[in-house]
Amino acid sequence: MARLDFPKDFVWGTATASYQIEGAAREDGRGPSIWDTFSHTPGKVWGNHNGDVACDSYHRYGEDIALLKQLGVKAYRFSVAWPRIYPQGTGEVNPKGLDYYRRVIDGLLEAGIEPCVTLYHWDLPQALQDRGGWDNRETIDAFVNYAETVFKAFDGKVKMWITFNELWCVSFLSNYLGVHAPGNTDLQLAVNVAHNALVAHGRAVKRFRELGIRGQIGITHNPSWTEPYTTKPEDVEAARRQRGWQNEWFFDPVLKGAYPQFLVDWFRDTQGVKVPIQPGDMETIAQPIDFIGVNFYSGNYGRYKPGAGLFHCEEVQVGFEKTFMDWNVYPEALYKVLSWVKEAYGDIPIYITENGACYEDELTPDKKVHDAKRVEYFRKHFIQCHRAIESGIPLKGYFAWSLLDNFEWAEGYRKRFGICYTDYETLARYPKDSYYFYQKVIADGGLDV
Ligand code: FCB
Repeated sequence: MARLDFPKDFVWGTATASYQIEGAAREDGRGPSIWDTFSHTPGKVWGNHNGDVACDSYHRYGEDIALLKQLGVKAYRFSVAWPRIYPQGTGEVNPKGLDYYRRVIDGLLEAGIEPCVTLYHWDLPQALQDRGGWDNRETIDAFVNYAETVFKAFDGKVKMWITFNELWCVSFLSNYLGVHAPGNTDLQLAVNVAHNALVAHGRAVKRFRELGIRGQIGITHNPSWTEPYTTKPEDVEAARRQRGWQNEWFFDPVLKGAYPQFLVDWFRDTQGVKVPIQPGDMETIAQPIDFIGVNFYSGNYGRYKPGAGLFHCEEVQVGFEKTFMDWNVYPEALYKVLSWVKEAYGDIPIYITENGACYEDELTPDKKVHDAKRVEYFRKHFIQCHRAIESGIPLKGYFAWSLLDNFEWAEGYRKRFGICYTDYETLARYPKDSYYFYQKVIADGGLDV
């Protein structure tokens, strides 16, 4: 048995997102978001579920904070719903929206928990989507205005800020693959969306500095890892394209000020797609940030196969254990991602802003959930985090996804990621075994393996 100790100042946390947990979709002046529209469109979400009630955290945030306190986390990552602050995206501020987050933030601080705020976790005001959404550069101005309002409201209370969550999902998953809101299937549109949102990120960071807001600011990406199945050049190249699409396409502009040229060429030559860069954009996107957030869930092996996906890269099934999302459990890929970040971008501090697993949980009659597989998933990923720290990677913290089972986007409520079980009939929360496992790791500052 070996003992893995984490640094004393390592930030242990959990994460959630507004639309996934809040509910109260029409309360206190909240405007509709693209997720309200999408989830209320039949056939878009499993079981036609929607976030109208979700976990009702809008009313039950006190219970959530109590669970966090008992868990012993140092930080809690949650997102602000833009349509609560500006119901129409721009215009008049809705003070009741700000009040809600003030209650949450004050409650966290009282419990000794650092709030970590994500400004955009996918709930774009529908009014902005009606004018083109992220394809329209006016949305950039609207975002910066919204960000400024939230920065000023919580300056001094919130010390960790994240502009965007997972731009790969915001762009390609939502506008090319059509799986998430707004559900478009247009590659050029997806590239435009990614670019404009990256510019919005840079402009918000710039504004943050100009306003002298205290604390750190960064962005969260969702790298995945595709390992070439063989060393054949065509497999190596196919895997590189696949990784580049998920990873470099988003990391490079922010941390190097340029898109990966091999993919710019690929998009242009094979798809006729161009990046709509305007003068000054790349400098704006590359504003220095304080940390990079990494959401990590899975990885795979890929090989060249003509016609497979955008990049002629086909996944090879090599016998990984799968979660209930059908995602491979491949913890070493987390280490590979973290090593790649350090190698490619130097010593930028890294936070794992999400990591976790979906399994079919069962609530026992005495209200327990024995989620041994989720415990194993966490344990294996903690080992890789420790390995990364030992090898000199500046990994500063880890946020488990998620505090509680919630609205899992296109999968509705049937896919559970929580370390607390949500009973959607009563909205009661029940800590699972993984909650107690995590509680012990935090209390001990590490684990025995
Ligand atoms: C990520 C999202 C998060 C959650 C997990 C499972 O892509 O950021 O909201 O749905 O996946």
